[in-house]
Amino acid sequence: MRQARQPFVSFEGDEASGKSLQAQRLATALRERGLEVIAVREPGGTPAGERIREIVLHAREAALTSEAQALLFSAARAQLVAEVIRPGLDRGAVVIADRYFDSTLAYQGGAGGADIEGLRALTRFAVGSTVPDRTFLLDVPLDVIEARSRARSIDRRWDRFEAEKRDFHERLREAYLRLAAAEPWRFVVIRGDRSADEIAAQIRREVDTLLVTPA
Ligand code: TMP
Repeated sequence: MRQARQPFVSFEGDEASGKSLQAQRLATALRERGLEVIAVREPGGTPAGERIREIVLHAREAALTSEAQALLFSAARAQLVAEVIRPGLDRGAVVIADRYFDSTLAYQGGAGGADIEGLRALTRFAVGSTVPDRTFLLDVPLDVIEARSRARSIDRRWDRFEAEKRDFHERLREAYLRLAAAEPWRFVVIRGDRSADEIAAQIRREVDTLLVTPA
């Protein structure tokens, strides 16, 4: 018989939406409560995933179609699920993912133009039944994203997606909102242009409803 398990939650949104900060804050808060938390970021989180991250994000000389990007992100994800996420959930940890398959659907599909049904089949192939219980979408107006990105781009390495133009990010935002509207039971859309404390409190309230208390 399968034991009740702790939740698997993912964070999604554009760069500079504040999702990584919120994922970290949630991990810290749950650890302070004595829970085991596994926090992962995509692409990455395994030795193979970190190598793939280098190619897909930072190899400026390597042109990659949206389809090729999706395959690389999915390969990294399949490894992360097998090595880290599934074993973690099986032993009763809370798993917090900073990006998961919705990133592929939104970036390579909605914004990048790859076929969405093909991407759905690919992401299912990569993760099987390991689907998040909740996905927090940090939704931030584009002007705010642009201002934050300009401020953080100084001293940062070239990044394939941060180099994309405004209309890519517009399509991305719309794609994320469509994904959220299609699965309202999984997604929580959070207005990301509020204070980090307010957002963290909203996320905590949601996650508290999912935690399994030991008998
Ligand atoms: P981040 O470390 O800022 O989250 O950056 C990861 C980048 O990779 C971000 O620009 C989004 C992009 N990405 C995709 O395009 N598709 C994916 O499936 C994933 C996981 C990330």
